[in-house]
Amino acid sequence: MIIVTGGAGFIGCNFIRDWLGETFFVPDNRAQAGLLNLDKLTYAGNLKSLADVESNPQYRFVRGDIGDRALVGRLLAEAKPTAIVNFAAESHVDRSIAGADEFIQTNIVGTFNLLEEVRGYFAQLSADEKQAFRFLHVSTDEVYGSLGMHEAAFSEKRQYEPNSPYSASKAASDHLVRAYHHTYGLPTLTTNCSNNYGPYHFPEKLIPLMIQNALQGKPLPVYGDGKNVRDWLYVADHCSAIRAVLANGRVGETYNIGGRNERTNMEVVNTVCALLDELRPRADGKHYNSQITFVKDRLGHDRRYAIDATKLETELGWHAQETFETGIRKTIAWYLNNQDWVQSVASGEYMKWLDVQYGANDRSGL
Ligand code: NAD
Ligand code: TYD
Repeated sequence: MIIVTGGAGFIGCNFIRDWLGETFFVPDNRAQAGLLNLDKLTYAGNLKSLADVESNPQYRFVRGDIGDRALVGRLLAEAKPTAIVNFAAESHVDRSIAGADEFIQTNIVGTFNLLEEVRGYFAQLSADEKQAFRFLHVSTDEVYGSLGMHEAAFSEKRQYEPNSPYSASKAASDHLVRAYHHTYGLPTLTTNCSNNYGPYHFPEKLIPLMIQNALQGKPLPVYGDGKNVRDWLYVADHCSAIRAVLANGRVGETYNIGGRNERTNMEVVNTVCALLDELRPRADGKHYNSQITFVKDRLGHDRRYAIDATKLETELGWHAQETFETGIRKTIAWYLNNQDWVQSVASGEYMKWLDVQYGANDRSGL
């Protein structure tokens, strides 16, 4: 049994589907360990993203907060997990700029409370169980701060220089995880991944927002000059990297995960537009990139992120399977075929966010 936190979010739901999928496809029918998903179901968590695994007997969902020590303690005692994979977090930079309270509560205080309960649970395991146990903390490349255009990509040795309230809260959680290994011998693993994209990505983030706005004939709001660079990784590749680190990563280590797919935001948006032109042409024959509009820049906007994944590739033999071109095509096809999912996650709270971020402030310029 493993416990996954934040499994109703974008990456977590892809990870759960992959993990349970392995159960069905192992050649000798050997059942893989079951999985308990602990998720608070914030605006970003949606059980619709897991509808197809709900009835799997290996899967159990519990709604709750990683910071709820009584609940976490009870679940650990009941489930007796051999591993925890901690995805739960507030994850959107723009929201952290608008107000960071939830980021501090979940990403820092929540992770601390989770670590405390896991520490207590770990202490009473047998020597063999201790040997097998892992706490894997899922983090981000944003903790390293912003790269110059010609600087080498982030390695695990790069100094932490978080610039947004989001990345600062993730950096704090990474430090706590490190300290629990160093001080208490908790067998931790930390992964720092670059920007993900793929199915079930909440439509407040760049790629799904652009797809949805394009389809709805709305402006495509590019912040600043559109030349900020992100290193894009298809979500299934992130999931396979986490499985590799969980299985064979060295305890106490951190592993950077990235696909060597650096793109400027304009390149990303133009690619999305070109694929939509091909797969779902506009009725009026115009190109989707005619909807692009430059808007006011994000405060403190990091210029460039890029990951050097050499350690993961050489130590654990992991390699990304998708290029940006193959992954983005799959992603757009998924969104075109799953508009009902997008509609169902677009809650009232989400519509309010769009108003605050793009509407009421009228940053769109259209
Ligand atoms: P997401 O926002 O889509 O999902 C987060 C999930 O956590 C949601 O289901 C939410 O309900 C849940 N959650 C929030 N607070 C909680 C709490 N207090 N207790 C329990 N559950 C809670 O995020 P994501 O994009 O899937 O990211 C998952 C993790 O990966 C995060 O830790 C994020 O920092 C990290 N990460 C994300 C990216 C990316 O590009 N999306 C890249 C690198 C790292
Ligand atoms: P985002 O998906 O929010 O991820 P992150 O900030 O964690 O990298 O944004 C990716 C890039 O796209 C980032 O440079 C900000 C930019 N961006 C826009 O230009 N317009 C938008 O509407 C959004 C949401 C992001």
